[in-house]
Amino acid sequence: MNLKEEILKLKKNLDVTVVAHFYQRDEVFELADIVGDSLELAKKSMETNSKFVLFCGVGFMGEGVKILNPKKRVLMPKIACCAMARMIDGDYYDDSILKLNEAGIKSEDILPITYINSSAAVKARVGKMGGLVCTSSNAYKIIQKGLESGKKILFVPDRCLGQNFAKQMNLKSAVIGDGTDLKKADIICYNGFCSVHQQFTVEDVEFYKEKYDDILIAVHPECDPSVCDAADFVGSTSQLIKFIKELPVEQKVAVGTEFNMVNRLREKNTFILSSTKPECPTMNETTLEDLYKTLKLMEKEQEEPYEGEILIDEEESKWARVALQRMFEI
Ligand code: 13P
Ligand code: SF4
Repeated sequence: MNLKEEILKLKKNLDVTVVAHFYQRDEVFELADIVGDSLELAKKSMETNSKFVLFCGVGFMGEGVKILNPKKRVLMPKIACCAMARMIDGDYYDDSILKLNEAGIKSEDILPITYINSSAAVKARVGKMGGLVCTSSNAYKIIQKGLESGKKILFVPDRCLGQNFAKQMNLKSAVIGDGTDLKKADIICYNGFCSVHQQFTVEDVEFYKEKYDDILIAVHPECDPSVCDAADFVGSTSQLIKFIKELPVEQKVAVGTEFNMVNRLREKNTFILSSTKPECPTMNETTLEDLYKTLKLMEKEQEEPYEGEILIDEEESKWARVALQRMFEI
């Protein structure tokens, strides 16, 4: 059986939109109707008219589509959970607020901002506290807007993103538990991180800079602040794509982000900023076979949940939607 042809046939006969993040395997990515980074996918999913969305990515992204389109049936071929999003749940979030209270910061003086890489439970808590969501594409704008409230920002879960944007804005940041006085920081970060982007080091930057004197270094803001400081360009997935695609063909660039995405960007002069192959293990879990199996399930009309269907508690979904909509309003 030719899986690709079978999938294309099924897609034609079903009322479905297949959505894929840039980090998906090539063979899955090629079959998607909509591709993008996390912000683009959240936006574009609101414009789809199909009954089903088949989301190829990680759990928080599929959840985001369901939260924004509660009536749509959202299925994931693999409900793979982003390692960073798993670092904080509702209880850890509550505990972080307590830690800030113990440091002398009142809850009413905290504005929480959660990176989109977080569960519906965390987004809902943030929404209830008057906070909002950001992605790596709009974090600068969202944090800037948040600061207008005069409150301290609690940034969860990615400490690197929080620290990197604080630096860009000349603000003071602290990480919960790092021993610094939280009261002195403008942005207080939860101690989460992306294990894939942690693989890029200053030594990798030095290696490429020594090897080619004219090379540019471009990295995602989930990389450690020391790596972002040493880079020539720091940007979200779609900002990196734009930056790299617009470079003259002869310009060499070493890129610090997920392997699948970098690999399909440019034929020549593009390097991975690592001696390892930095694939996101959870993004990579979805295979063509999974896609096929889930489409096969959709052939049968049913009221009860399908295997792989995203279901979110209504109250949680309501508050998570508030946090996401506040982001879209900015
Ligand atoms: P983007 O918002 O850039 O798509 O990033 C999502 C992500 O998980 C990066 O590791
Ligand atoms: Fe999560 Fe990192 Fe994978 Fe992005 S690359 S989905 S942050 S584990």
